[in-house]
Amino acid sequence: MYSTSQSQLDEQFAQDIKEGLGSKSQKRVEPKYFYDTEGSHLFEEICVQPEYYPWRIEADILRRYSKRMTCSQDSSEITIIELGSGSSTKTRILLGEVLSRQASLFYFPIDVSKAMLCETRNKLSADYRNLRTIGISSDYVDGVDQANRLISADDQIPEKKLIIFLGSSIGNLEPEESISFLKKLRSKMDENDNLLIGIDLRKDRKVLEAAYNDEKGITARFNLNLLTRINRELRGEFDLDSFVHRAFYNSFNERVEMHIVSTKDQQVYVGRLDQTFSFDENETIHTENSYKYSSEQIRQMAYESEFVIKGDFFDTKRWFNVVLFSPA
Ligand SMILES: C[S@@+](CC[C@H](N)C(=O)[O-])C[C@H]1O[C@@H](n2cnc3c(N)ncnc32)[C@H](O)[C@@H]1O
Repeated sequence: MYSTSQSQLDEQFAQDIKEGLGSKSQKRVEPKYFYDTEGSHLFEEICVQPEYYPWRIEADILRRYSKRMTCSQDSSEITIIELGSGSSTKTRILLGEVLSRQASLFYFPIDVSKAMLCETRNKLSADYRNLRTIGISSDYVDGVDQANRLISADDQIPEKKLIIFLGSSIGNLEPEESISFLKKLRSKMDENDNLLIGIDLRKDRKVLEAAYNDEKGITARFNLNLLTRINRELRGEFDLDSFVHRAFYNSFNERVEMHIVSTKDQQVYVGRLDQTFSFDENETIHTENSYKYSSEQIRQMAYESEFVIKGDFFDTKRWFNVVLFSPA
């Protein structure tokens, strides 16, 4: 397992919380901070809620088209790098497909959640004899650099890469940020490499809002777990009973927004930062955007980031799109 140092990660978390909660305008925290051990497990629970269509539909698309997604034209062996791999449950569909035609496979899952990465690596090692899983606990782009270094240093690892980015995580980036992110990935790929991305599409507001407000309240627990994490890791004094979850579709910006709402005027001290943050009644911490795209915008995204679309895979309702990009 390769990993960014824990003290560096802790310091970054403290700094980002100080900046995000101290903002004079909208308070914000980046969604990557949802994923401590508890957050990662809550996300797994969200995925199996009946309202959370993206996980199920993306898995169906992968099952249906895994061969075309992973096949290389020249039949050479591939190595898989995954961004934000989580439990790698859906990825097993692709791993199984590749292992049905390659004697072995090197798989580099990259995730900020070290605990989830360890758990996943152990399960994969037990379940697949010919899979070599090399976990990298870091941010996406640093992780790809690390994987590239390891691939170049070892003759046994096939150089041709399939990078995968599932779960519509690209939707968490601002649209212009997603272009610069894709350009960065593009610069780390060779011309025969491919990039497979799962992207959630626009649809009825009711469907979208139900997905982020499941009846069992798992998404609410996932969102509020961020305050528990601040309490535990930064000695925060958030009272969980005076904050609530809110998620809604913002049709102007074409995104689902998640917020944590303060139910009263209050002040919260965070020990490690030695700072008190004030909240007005109904003031929110904006914790996640999940942009919903049209097929036209996805084509434009590929064009602007210098990729061509090599494969375009949908479900029958066209609710979700898995796209295979290759360097232009
Ligand atoms: C929405 S989940 C998707 C998990 C899985 N890929 C799926 O499709 O079910 C996002 C995953 O990405 C990880 N993650 C979020 N932001 C990240 C970042 N900036 N760098 C690396 N991993 C990140 C989280 O820990 C989490 O496991």
